[in-house]
Amino acid sequence: MNVLIVGGGAREHALTWKALQSPLTDTVFCAPGNAATGAIAINTGLQPTDAENIARFVNERDVGLTVIGPEVAVAAGLADRLTAAGRLVFGPTQAAGRIESSKAFAKSLMERAGVPTPAYRVFSDPGSAKDFVRGERRAFVVKADGLAKGKGTLVARDAEETLECIDTLMLRRTVGAAADRIVLEEKIAGREVSLMAFVDGERILPLAPACDYKRAFDGDKGPNTGGMGGYSPVSFFGPDAVEKAVTTVLTPIVDGLRDAGTPYRGCLYAGLMLGPGGIQALEFNARFGDPEAQVVLPRLENDLIALLEAAAGGELAGASGSWTARSSVGVVLASRGYPGTYTTGFPIEGLGTIERDVLVFHAGAAADPSGYVTAGGRVLTLVALGDSMAEARERAYRNVERIRFQGMTYRNDLAEREVEAPALP
Ligand code: GLY
Repeated sequence: MNVLIVGGGAREHALTWKALQSPLTDTVFCAPGNAATGAIAINTGLQPTDAENIARFVNERDVGLTVIGPEVAVAAGLADRLTAAGRLVFGPTQAAGRIESSKAFAKSLMERAGVPTPAYRVFSDPGSAKDFVRGERRAFVVKADGLAKGKGTLVARDAEETLECIDTLMLRRTVGAAADRIVLEEKIAGREVSLMAFVDGERILPLAPACDYKRAFDGDKGPNTGGMGGYSPVSFFGPDAVEKAVTTVLTPIVDGLRDAGTPYRGCLYAGLMLGPGGIQALEFNARFGDPEAQVVLPRLENDLIALLEAAAGGELAGASGSWTARSSVGVVLASRGYPGTYTTGFPIEGLGTIERDVLVFHAGAAADPSGYVTAGGRVLTLVALGDSMAEARERAYRNVERIRFQGMTYRNDLAEREVEAPALP
């Protein structure tokens, strides 16, 4: 079977790498892919939102399964277009994908489905939002309703800062029309975890939980980013917690979308908070997480393509996931200045010196006659596995030190808390 991976980041590089291990796979195409996927698969140059041309390509090349990476392709209706053409696609329709493309929709669905989630209010007018905050005199999480490339959620420390966040999103329009509407959400305490699941419209197959690090700097300081790294498994979120999350969060959402006539097929990502009040759902993404995919997929022992094909075809009954007991740690190597402005075009050195079995997934890296050069904010995700989290972490950072490019920056504290203070089983 020919497989098309839509997207061009490190997440899609990881999907391509894993797809190539499947005996079901003949040729893997990428749309558009990146320089590194071009070395192991065939890049098409097609853009993820170009549904018409992707559908034409899928028909011409007889692609048996299309796997959607980025949310922009979901929101552009790529799955709808491919399904209409009679093609199998792993990724939700535009309507089901509203769980990510509209935070207000997601919160209202959670409320109706009885999913535990922090209290919220939706505002389309900054004046009313600010009046509400002044009346409440406390801090809120301020979320742009629409897609904002990870820059749409601002966490305020007090009421004053909440007012500032509202201005940033709605008046200074830092994420444009995505913040024409905002959600003000109650701040809750706890530990965040990402739980992704394959969903076939009805059935749910949870993946191994992961943690990601959204802030740019050590100690969870600095601006929010697309993700600076992560690890899996998560000691504070074991099998019982996964089961509970499936029952209380994922199942009501999948049932609710099915009952609304918009069944969900694809990877459903729940951003959860485990706190004193139990598990609460903060947000959903209609896709694999980035960098969660890079740390979770290397731990999957099953044939990825068989599972994605089953989910896309509504045939997940009886499917199970098998996970290595080994731990993984992924470190994102970024360009200095990311997520703000940064300079690119610097040679990436040391890739040939990485230890065997350590994985380097490319995102903002381009091919150059001398090798690879930087071409984006998040440049690489380096992933190491180990028999323990401590070993995976030590191996990851040992290999990070072998890579160099001008302005290379990364967090030094990834998985530190898992090594120093793992939760008791
Ligand atoms: N790691 C968060 C995301 O993929 O949106």
